[in-house]
Amino acid sequence: MNKYLTLHPWHIIEEGFNGANQKSSESLFSIGNGRMGQRASFEESYSGETLLGNYIGGVYYPDPTKVGYWKHGYPAYFAKLVNTTSWIGIDIQIGKEKLDLAKCKVHDFLRTLNMQEGYLERSFIAEFPSGKQVKVHSKRFLSIVDREIGAVRYAITPLNFSSEIAITPYLDSNMKNDWANYGDRFSDPYYREAHKGEAYLTIETCKTNFHVCTGMKFAVVQNDKQVVINPELIAHETYVANTVKVQCLEGEETVIYKYAAILASLYYAKEELLETCAKLLHQAFHKGFESLLAEQAAAWIVKWEHSDVTIEGDVAAQQAIRFNIFQLNQTYTGQDPELNIGPKGYTGEKYGGVTYWDTEAYCLPFYLATSGEEAAKSLLLYRYKHLPKAIENAENIGLYGRAALYPMVTVNGEECHNEWEITFEEIHRNGAMAYAIYNYVRYTGDKNYLVEYGLEVLIALARFWQKRASFSTVKNKYVILGVTGPNEYENNVDNNWYTNILASWTLDYTQEVISYVKQVNPEKFHQIATKTKLQENDEILLWRKVRENMYFPKDEKLGIFLQQDNYLDKEQRLAKELDPSERPLNQHWSWDRILRSCFIKQADVLQGIYFFEENYDLETIKRNFDFYEPRTVHESSLSPCVHAILAAKLGYEDKAYEMYLRTARLDLDDYNHEVKEGCHITSMAGSWLAIVQGFGGMRVRNNELHFKPMIIPNWQFYAFKIIFRDNLLNIKVSKECVEIANESTAPIGVWVYDKRYLVEGKGLVNIM
Ligand code: BGC
Repeated sequence: MNKYLTLHPWHIIEEGFNGANQKSSESLFSIGNGRMGQRASFEESYSGETLLGNYIGGVYYPDPTKVGYWKHGYPAYFAKLVNTTSWIGIDIQIGKEKLDLAKCKVHDFLRTLNMQEGYLERSFIAEFPSGKQVKVHSKRFLSIVDREIGAVRYAITPLNFSSEIAITPYLDSNMKNDWANYGDRFSDPYYREAHKGEAYLTIETCKTNFHVCTGMKFAVVQNDKQVVINPELIAHETYVANTVKVQCLEGEETVIYKYAAILASLYYAKEELLETCAKLLHQAFHKGFESLLAEQAAAWIVKWEHSDVTIEGDVAAQQAIRFNIFQLNQTYTGQDPELNIGPKGYTGEKYGGVTYWDTEAYCLPFYLATSGEEAAKSLLLYRYKHLPKAIENAENIGLYGRAALYPMVTVNGEECHNEWEITFEEIHRNGAMAYAIYNYVRYTGDKNYLVEYGLEVLIALARFWQKRASFSTVKNKYVILGVTGPNEYENNVDNNWYTNILASWTLDYTQEVISYVKQVNPEKFHQIATKTKLQENDEILLWRKVRENMYFPKDEKLGIFLQQDNYLDKEQRLAKELDPSERPLNQHWSWDRILRSCFIKQADVLQGIYFFEENYDLETIKRNFDFYEPRTVHESSLSPCVHAILAAKLGYEDKAYEMYLRTARLDLDDYNHEVKEGCHITSMAGSWLAIVQGFGGMRVRNNELHFKPMIIPNWQFYAFKIIFRDNLLNIKVSKECVEIANESTAPIGVWVYDKRYLVEGKGLVNIM
């Protein structure tokens, strides 16, 4: 752990400057607007360790695969978001000295991420080797209203001298991706121009040929008056700038307002990019920093109205959940159908900024309940559009006949992951695709989705499971061999219980959806059957056979489901017996030792129990939890949230709270010593799940919401907002009562502790 941030309900705060934390802070204080994002590097020069990162969703480079020995079927590349032009830079030069916090003495450093209003703020006093001191105060944001606009207000005040200061606002495309297999350049310069007070720079991504045009325009203001500038214009291949020399007086503030427009050819024709960039940039300039910021704050306040979670009496828990919600909303808004949610969002380069099963398994419920049906549907349609590629992907591994295997990692539907034990074997991800459709329909009631899109995907998934299972004459059952479950600390295992459960459930659900579509829209069913070449009777018969005869490993004596065949042959140890200096295991043990051990990286059997909890009685859940949790090392960020939800269900208050904090403060307290690589965006949805489904006990059954709330002893109350169909609800849980406020006009029936209450439009019920 590395706890250096100050607790606050709405802000992330770093007091005092320590260069050793800079890369971690760059991740933690990142800003984004769903379409793009940026690490929290400094505007002025910084010669210390830094990763200046600017990423735009969907603008990627296909980084050639790097493996020791090539295996047939490996994908050719890993899609990685390109580190594009940096637009924040403002160099400050005083005489021969450049402002650089790695070379100055830094006093009163304060960095704040204002999550309520969506901006990053920083102030400090820097003392140069000459003894000159300047005070700096900066604010910047990426607009969630004008989603191609970023803006900086950078104020500098000489404290003990008066002199000319050279100010250089610039754009720099000489950016390298840190996470590159062969050190390739991911983009080339394409076009540049610099004028008085503004400049433009376009890059072209290598191989994928996306264009990104970035423009900047700035003004220098002293005593509320714009300073007349006579800049030196600079335009190199990868760099455009203006240098202005301004006379600055001791104690007087000089403010640089810098605006940027960042446009990608994903949204505009290449030949229109420059002109549109200039137009948007000028509009932003005329609107002005304060108006843009006011719009930003207002838009964030609206976002919070739908998604806030309040926790009274525990500021660490409060700060953490808001941080998680803020980062999720900075990463994905549902407005761009081509975009998805990378495990690190736009806060770092690990995982390439592209899509994993995390979206379907963890993120979908968050967006369903806080952004609404359309945003969540966009995530499902993303996979629907990729169906033809998923069918190709199954063919690549030798499964023909229009079966689909969705990729482990993708940006455009093609598989990008290249470790055989994951690419070929972590096939449980396909189950999450089917489960997400079910989860969406259960929550929204939008059964038409099944007719229009869902069934087509389900048929291809059912085919996959039927073909991937094989019949064991020894067991007289269908088995699924050679897989990796969610627990990646075991590879190439047979009959991973979670995988087998999802396979058999998908076969069942697909059959159910076929019956439904046939009944409500026979004509559409006929079209789908023709399009998918469904051999209805034969195929369904086969699916039923596999489902009814699927093998599920279990241990009768312990009364638990077995993670995979022979799991109990391993030497059984508990995570608490491990020496803390060996944790995380993946940073201390050889891979071989990890594979041989019984330690579990993340929820596996318990992930399956979480998905299908209504199929198991409390005793069964308890036995499995009591067995698996103590063997779990939670070295995937996706792990603790599932444990928090199940612990809450079982009434294990302390465990639920421990697991909640571990998820929610994973990055803020840097549990796994890796936040410098980026924040764990997808698992942040898990923190929200831990509160809403865990402590709030929220479930959807038979088209209605059910709650079974519990409260952590040191919390006075907690409250969360839920969009459910036509209603926006505010659920407040205190030690004394549960209060449900209906902020919409339509009445709604909700269940609390198994009793139904009608909450009138704009009404409130109080359950003691
Ligand atoms: C987890 C995977 C996850 C990936 C990206 C890995 O550490 O084991 O389940 O998809 O991270 O978050």
